[in-house]
Amino acid sequence: MQILFDTDCLIQALENLENSAVLDLCRRERCKGWVLSTSVPALLAGAGEGEVQSLLRSLAVLTPTAHDIGLALASEKPFEVALVARLVEASGLDAVVTLSPERFSGMPVNAMTLGQLQEKLDAPPPPVKEVRLLDITASYHQILTEVEKEIAETIRSGQFILGAKVSRMEERMATYCQTKYAVGVSSGTDALLIALMAAGVGPGDEVITSPYTFFATAGSIIRAGAKPVFADINDITFNIKPEHVERCITPKSKAIIPVHLYGQCADMDPILQLAEKHGLRVIEDAAQAIGSEYKSRPAGSLGDMGCFSFFPAKNLGCFGDGGLVTTNSEELYKQLKILRVHGSEPKYYHEVLGGNFRLDALQAGVVSAKLNFLEEWTDQRRKNAQTYNQLFKDSAMTPFVQLPPEVFPRHVYNQYVLRAGNRRDELRTFLNENGIGCEIYYPIPLHLQDCFKSLGYKSGDFSESEKAAKQTLALPISHEVDRRQQEYVVETIQRFFLGK
Ligand SMILES: Cc1ncc(COP(=O)(O)O)c(C=O)c1O
Repeated sequence: MQILFDTDCLIQALENLENSAVLDLCRRERCKGWVLSTSVPALLAGAGEGEVQSLLRSLAVLTPTAHDIGLALASEKPFEVALVARLVEASGLDAVVTLSPERFSGMPVNAMTLGQLQEKLDAPPPPVKEVRLLDITASYHQILTEVEKEIAETIRSGQFILGAKVSRMEERMATYCQTKYAVGVSSGTDALLIALMAAGVGPGDEVITSPYTFFATAGSIIRAGAKPVFADINDITFNIKPEHVERCITPKSKAIIPVHLYGQCADMDPILQLAEKHGLRVIEDAAQAIGSEYKSRPAGSLGDMGCFSFFPAKNLGCFGDGGLVTTNSEELYKQLKILRVHGSEPKYYHEVLGGNFRLDALQAGVVSAKLNFLEEWTDQRRKNAQTYNQLFKDSAMTPFVQLPPEVFPRHVYNQYVLRAGNRRDELRTFLNENGIGCEIYYPIPLHLQDCFKSLGYKSGDFSESEKAAKQTLALPISHEVDRRQQEYVVETIQRFFLGK
């Protein structure tokens, strides 16, 4: 539960911090506790700064906007009550805990005493009825303080595009990916496009990639003026098969884009060997794979360049669009930086044609703030995957669903994707009817997309990709999903197959 603690209740907590029930609940993570920043002066009036700081360490601080304050002032209710009610409602919190809930009567807010909250938390939890595929806002409690700091600093600095925030994020991401350089760009799609441009890929060139991926992988090849050449996937990992890549190499081949789909790296060693033998560039599409590893080497450090996406649904998502290219090559790094600003070097002198691939400072700040939590969240995703695997085995579901194996640790499970044979579409409907979010990534392989007709591919050309597109289903796996929700997902799938 997400709880806003009212000032009166926190003043009481400060009187006996050692045995504070509020802090106990928050520290034991029985609920997510919030405090209004406007409560702080009242807290300081009765306690020392150290004590208030110690209290605030276990709570997330919610700051009203001028709009919230205006609405509260215009309300017929006392200002403080109206402000609390407004923020609980606007922030989607579950309740306010206060010494006197009656002050909130007649308002659209759930108000209760600490005792009532404890009773609620001690009672058996209601049965799970809904599991969202993604619940991005569930993490705000954890990240808000750091994100707000980044956003406020950016707004105060007036530096909104590139600048110090972007450079700092790039340095931290390069360290995280164990590469020499990283260049922040406007999206994962633009990361692929600018990487292709930096690699000198253009008209007349061929780029080998997977047909079983998000559209942007092949779309960027066409936008760079080149031709995508598809190679089928491995049926276990869903990633491009090196043997198939080899068959696609022609004198026109210029690069290979292996996609680390769902968060597991493609089998990179044979791909890198082929690239070396034939003089090809390797551009990793690591949009779904931040933090994943192949033989102890991080995604993004394996090829000539690695392309990442900060789309909000990714494991490290920002609050809009954003992306990144990593590289160990100083030459490519310099080229990427020039291409990012319309090929301008020095300013307003253009030797090459680039684009507007610049990243906002606000998005870079959000990425930096969230990067502090990425390892913890990735570990939780990996634990969730193990929990699913175990639950499916324990419930004798493995003859009905094929689980996603971890062939190359470390899989970071941007998606947990199983195969449900020829009943996938029925299963998806059944899960949705039972409040469970699930998704098909991707229903039509790229060689069969209308806009790629001119490439001349037909149905049957890539049997594994086509089979995967018909059989796969992604289940809720993010770090916000808890064990009870996973049990509900597996029980519902069991009901579907066994009619229990
Ligand atoms: C494999 C893959 N490549 C590229 C992209 C493009 O990233 P963006 O949405 O940030 O442009 C995505 C995003 O969904 C992706 O999953």
